Amino acid sequence: MASTLMTLLAFETSCDETSAAVVSDGVVRSSVVSTQIGLHAEYGGVVPELAVREHLRNLQPVTHAALGEAGVRPEQLDAVAATQGPGLPSALMVGLKAGQAMAFALGKPFLGIHHHEAHLYSPWIDGKPARAHFEAFVPNVSLIVSGGHTMLVHVAAELNHRVLGGTIDDAAGECFDKTGKLMGLPYPAGPVIDRLAEQGRPQAYDFPSPLLNDANDDFSFSGLKTSVRYFLRDHPGLLADTQALRDLCASVQAAIVEVLVTKTMRAAERLGVRCVTASGGVTCNRALRQELARACARRGFQLRLAAGDLCTDNAAMVGILAGRKLAAGRVAGGGDDDIAPGWQLGG
Ligand code: KG4
Ligand code: ZN
Repeated sequence: MASTLMTLLAFETSCDETSAAVVSDGVVRSSVVSTQIGLHAEYGGVVPELAVREHLRNLQPVTHAALGEAGVRPEQLDAVAATQGPGLPSALMVGLKAGQAMAFALGKPFLGIHHHEAHLYSPWIDGKPARAHFEAFVPNVSLIVSGGHTMLVHVAAELNHRVLGGTIDDAAGECFDKTGKLMGLPYPAGPVIDRLAEQGRPQAYDFPSPLLNDANDDFSFSGLKTSVRYFLRDHPGLLADTQALRDLCASVQAAIVEVLVTKTMRAAERLGVRCVTASGGVTCNRALRQELARACARRGFQLRLAAGDLCTDNAAMVGILAGRKLAAGRVAGGGDDDIAPGWQLGG
């Protein structure tokens, strides 16, 4: 009997992860991610030329691995999807054009997916094998936090969302990375600060939580970075003291987490939703996960956090969203669309 499953292959190459995934009817059958973190660490940030070279080198093996792991042959695919934007232009080009070419060769539909929209629905994917639980969907306020993005989104219904606010300068992950760099920590500093903060005192030093008391849903993190720079200038030698470094990490982390949690809760209360979700690389941060859980429990809100391996960039979330769009009949050609590096998250 012919299979009635809708099976998609998805690509994600918007920044420094090359990823391919196979998804069938909301189930992640394989998800392969080749991260370039080690390569860019040497330069203290993502170098676009190197990212593209790595995407070109890795996309084929990653795709073979994803198809092989899922036990799916290309001719069994019903559609192909890829991140279309936002992201690094030349990096996006690799995944998008490969996906479009493959869809064309197979005579199947192609879906260009918005990277943030894919993050937005990633908290609804969990379990082993990972599966999307859209049947459990409830209106929510969603926090997307990573190295490239920090935003609050009102998701009133499935595939129906409105951006409430975003960062006006650095993203939260960028703030972790840049303050960590000032402390002499390796890139990306977010996970290192998370680890060091574990044995530090969050009240040791007082750093500003910018825009905490503003009525809007926007974020700003560059002021915090500047205050850490001045703090280190005024406390020469502090970094040589391990406990002081841990205290500093815990204090900086607390300032970032406080503003993220407070603004998320405030937006949820204002909009009258009973559910909060969070996704993106910074959602790996243990203090953020803990404080979101605490704040939601206090208000009786449901909390859905993206699972660890789905926080950072991956093609599984791209495939899940594309499958949902396909099922909802939301396929708008797309076979020869261009990349959309500055694509804003719309409705
Ligand atoms: O989503 P992602 O992989 O890539 C972007 O789209 O940016 O997020 C990477 C970001 C980096 O800034 C990294 O420092 C941060 O997520 N990050 C963390 C943690 N794990 C990753 N920040 C704080 N604590 C963590 N545990
Ligand atoms: Zn991302």
